[in-house]
Amino acid sequence: MIGVFDSGVGGLSVFKELRKALPRERYVYFCDNAHCPYGTKSQQYIIDRAEAITKFLMDKGCNIIVVACNTATAAAIAHLRSHYPDFPFVGIEPAVKLAAAVTSKKVIGTLATAGTLSGEKYALALNRLPADIKVVEHIGEGFVELVENGKFEGPEVEEVIKKSLNPLLEAGADVIVLGCTHYPFLSPAIEKIAGENVTVIDPAPAVARRTKDILPSSDGIYGFEYYASGSPATLEKLLETLE
Ligand code: DGL
Repeated sequence: MIGVFDSGVGGLSVFKELRKALPRERYVYFCDNAHCPYGTKSQQYIIDRAEAITKFLMDKGCNIIVVACNTATAAAIAHLRSHYPDFPFVGIEPAVKLAAAVTSKKVIGTLATAGTLSGEKYALALNRLPADIKVVEHIGEGFVELVENGKFEGPEVEEVIKKSLNPLLEAGADVIVLGCTHYPFLSPAIEKIAGENVTVIDPAPAVARRTKDILPSSDGIYGFEYYASGSPATLEKLLETLE
């Protein structure tokens, strides 16, 4: 059974890809929206949440956990792995390596939370890029709140997106990395503003492939359960559109 968690509904963008890659599995999704957003919280706060959710998912019988949140991966996955050395965890990180292979202008723009952009993992990923690649970043200010409120398109949404996306486009980025699992729900609006010469990258399919590679043996039963620490309204609305 595969456990999946995020600070809110964002992890559903990963769950969608997991279900495509591994349709005959049992899933438990935990939406921690009573504690959302994680992006502005301290590392210790996120470690405490990740630990509590991990215990919950293990008690439900999960034998692998997908941390479907870039911020929680940055803050807590090393801690989870050292605490449970024999248990498989899959995380998600901004796909700057893939973006470096795609950009023709050699300029990448990353949109992510403050927690992800200031984390050690992101700094390490940047250090591994070819020296001629320039990376510009911006926090997706207000993006998580839009998605948690079920707002994905329209003039109000586009105004919010432009404030964070335009600085990256003005810096010459021809690839935009979505470094937060909430942001793919805003992809149509992001693509509309960025224009057809800009590629938008979501690492969720790569996370699903990685999960498939390391999945412990399955019991052959399939199904889905979900839990939310806050209101399940947006989660339920989005789940209907995923089906
Ligand atoms: N969806 C999360 C991520 O991938 C976190 C959003 C938040 O709670 O700030 O980073």
